[in-house]
Amino acid sequence: MTPVRWGIIGTGGMAAKMATTMRALPDAEVVAVGSRSIETARFFAEAHEIAHAEGSHDAVSGRDDVDVVYVASTNDLHRVNTLSCLEAAKPVLCEKPLALSASQAAEMVDAAARAGVFFMEAMWMRFQPFLDTVDELVGSGSIGEVRLFQATFGFPANPDPARRWFNPGMGGGSLLDLGIYPVTLAYHLLGPPVSYSSEADLTPDGVDRQLSVSGLHASGAMSTLTSSLLGDAANEAIISGDKGRIRIHSPFHHSHRVTLEREGAPVAAYDTAYEGTGLEFEIEEVHRCLAAGLSESPRMPLEDSLAIMRWMDGIRGEAGIVYPGE
Ligand SMILES: NC(=O)c1ccc[n+]([C@@H]2O[C@H](COP(=O)([O-])OP(=O)(O)OC[C@H]3O[C@@H](n4cnc5c(N)ncnc54)[C@H](OP(=O)(O)O)[C@@H]3O)[C@@H](O)[C@H]2O)c1
Repeated sequence: MTPVRWGIIGTGGMAAKMATTMRALPDAEVVAVGSRSIETARFFAEAHEIAHAEGSHDAVSGRDDVDVVYVASTNDLHRVNTLSCLEAAKPVLCEKPLALSASQAAEMVDAAARAGVFFMEAMWMRFQPFLDTVDELVGSGSIGEVRLFQATFGFPANPDPARRWFNPGMGGGSLLDLGIYPVTLAYHLLGPPVSYSSEADLTPDGVDRQLSVSGLHASGAMSTLTSSLLGDAANEAIISGDKGRIRIHSPFHHSHRVTLEREGAPVAAYDTAYEGTGLEFEIEEVHRCLAAGLSESPRMPLEDSLAIMRWMDGIRGEAGIVYPGE
């Protein structure tokens, strides 16, 4: 089997986790990494046994030996990094969120269509085994009609403004970093909201350190979603129907356990654990799509990423969250 040859843009935490995951896969090979600093790129390349280190982000997409690029830069750079790859006709897996706003994301989706190459948001939650279990339980009517969805994601994040969480210039804040998971899961289960309201607690720099969203969906179901860069949150998700509820245990976005509950008591438990990092599922999806000649993933379609970005634009508008230069 000829491995898919990956290039990685960025050398931070996610770039390292994906490089480690790819090294463990028989059908993936990381051939190049690009950083703003050649020293950082060389250090990363050595640590992850990558043959080529590049001293710029753009140099990765210029390489003939790269089949697909993983964009793992800060949120503010997703647009420019992705566009440069697409202009070079390289397929792209771009970290979540696709961009800072729906208009930026739409520009990227248009560029992918023009280039005729594969493009996908790295929403790893979408490919987790727990979500197949949840879809089966909901689809089979195990909890009856879905009425409520609640999800919360939060942890006390590093307050250093040089790090991305509290830095408005890097698209920091709880919505794009953490809230995107509850929002994406609500969208997956209930579709887009017909109406919603949101409220944020902003830092003096305008970063949403805590956020809550309440939505009414077409079926009549309601969603209550929260994200926090301050609180040690429960990080669970609960889907309530008129005949029972499904608990997606913490951390819900890559949960290893799902419980079906009726009248407040567990009636069945589902083990959704796996051995790896959990990132292998989205990598394998990219490999499958490339092998099939697809320009997007049927499981994480670009229209879903765009609809979620549009919803997050609306949430931000109401909560007063603005990113400089968006
Ligand atoms: N899927 C997931 O589970 C998950 C988890 C965490 C984060 N993420 C997403 O992954 C992306 C990267 O997150 P991360 O945790 O890897 O972040 P990180 O550790 O801060 O790394 C971000 C990378 O962006 C580049 N960068 C460009 N300008 C920068 C600047 N001014 N300051 C700092 N770095 C800058 C850096 O690469 P160079 O210096 O080498 O150029 C850096 O390595 C984000 O979009 C985030 O939303 C996803």
